[in-house]
Amino acid sequence: MIRYSNAKAGRHFLQIPGPTNVPDRILRAIDHPTIDHRGPEFGVIGKKCLEGMKKIFQTSSHVVIYPASGTGAWEAALVNTLSPGDAVLMYESGQFATLWKNIATKMGLKPEFIEGDWRRAAVPEEIEARLKADLKANGDHAIKAVCVVHNETSTGCTARIPEIRKAIDRAGHPALMLVDTISGLGSVDYRHDEWGADVTIGGSQKGLMLPPGLSFNAISAKALAASKQSKSLKSFWGWEEMINSNKTGYFPYTPATNLLYGLAEAIDMLVDDEGLANVFARHQRHAEATRRAVRHWGEAGAMEILCQDEREHSPALTTILLTQGHNADALRKVILDNFNMSLGQGLGKISGKVFRIGHLGDFNDLTLMGTLSGVEMGFEVAGIPYKKGGAQAAMDYLASCAKGQPALKVAA
Ligand SMILES: Cc1ncc(COP(=O)(O)O)c(C=O)c1O
Repeated sequence: MIRYSNAKAGRHFLQIPGPTNVPDRILRAIDHPTIDHRGPEFGVIGKKCLEGMKKIFQTSSHVVIYPASGTGAWEAALVNTLSPGDAVLMYESGQFATLWKNIATKMGLKPEFIEGDWRRAAVPEEIEARLKADLKANGDHAIKAVCVVHNETSTGCTARIPEIRKAIDRAGHPALMLVDTISGLGSVDYRHDEWGADVTIGGSQKGLMLPPGLSFNAISAKALAASKQSKSLKSFWGWEEMINSNKTGYFPYTPATNLLYGLAEAIDMLVDDEGLANVFARHQRHAEATRRAVRHWGEAGAMEILCQDEREHSPALTTILLTQGHNADALRKVILDNFNMSLGQGLGKISGKVFRIGHLGDFNDLTLMGTLSGVEMGFEVAGIPYKKGGAQAAMDYLASCAKGQPALKVAA
């Protein structure tokens, strides 16, 4: 039998920014016999998931659920709304924006990539300026969609989507707004309808606390209308058949039945038991505590938070840049070998220079303290200069929050 965990005693700390730890409650839900996906019981589960996902995306419009990783839902958003040769405006916020741009190219679209420095999210003013120029140059317009990553998992920067919406509106440009919130969904406040997104893309393995394997498109009326005109070849990703079958809670092809059991449980946990507002506040608290730790460690001069814009710090993860030439992968190896904790590696052009602490999903104050203690001990073992007491700074913050908070509610 293949071993899926190492032989070390105690639980492995999986503190990468997704896939995240799957709570026992969800594992137990998944661990039910697979049922007939065309039988009478299935429609009830299907409807519960489809309706529940609307609450999570904060939309009253359609949400499509694919048995696929996030990459599939990226492709789905593009091939449903656009046609080969269409110009799309994308912003280089980090590695995931870069990967999405590469997919757009492969789909025969013409992505224009606004250059970014990977230390901040998409800049609304730059998008506005480019869209205004597009209107002037063409009389009409060439750019058919603006694609932005909400929570850039490589950098820990979160884009200000309402401001990007306003920037598009100020430019008076009719482009669709496509947003990837794969690593934000269920952790970071996101409002598909209120923020005027046309397609929002999500995935199961981050804030939704599920294993990888499900991904989502939330679809506005404008995006649905665009899909009727789209000339891109599509079959598996096509919205129309999905939406038709979904009316009764069923799917046009075999859905990921057991992952949907887990999704129904996750919806109960996030929406009904804890409540989305509390979920978002919890993530903000853990992100703030993490930043206090990093700033404290960084007083020794060897590290800093990668995200440079205070307004854009991600509630879901923190990316830490090691300065003075220290190797972040060597540090991660020390922490894995000695303390049995996985941290996120640096991706793309910041590979080896940064490491990422995931503080999202099924996560509480003590999980954070275990995580930060492991990081602080790792600096000591790896010989990376740090100011002692970062974990203490986080503890002080969490304790001060707890003093101002009611005791944890126990579900009835
Ligand atoms: C922001 C973002 N977009 C897209 C993806 C790609 O999703 P997947 O790896 O599930 O295909 C990821 C994966 O981590 C991500 O974090």
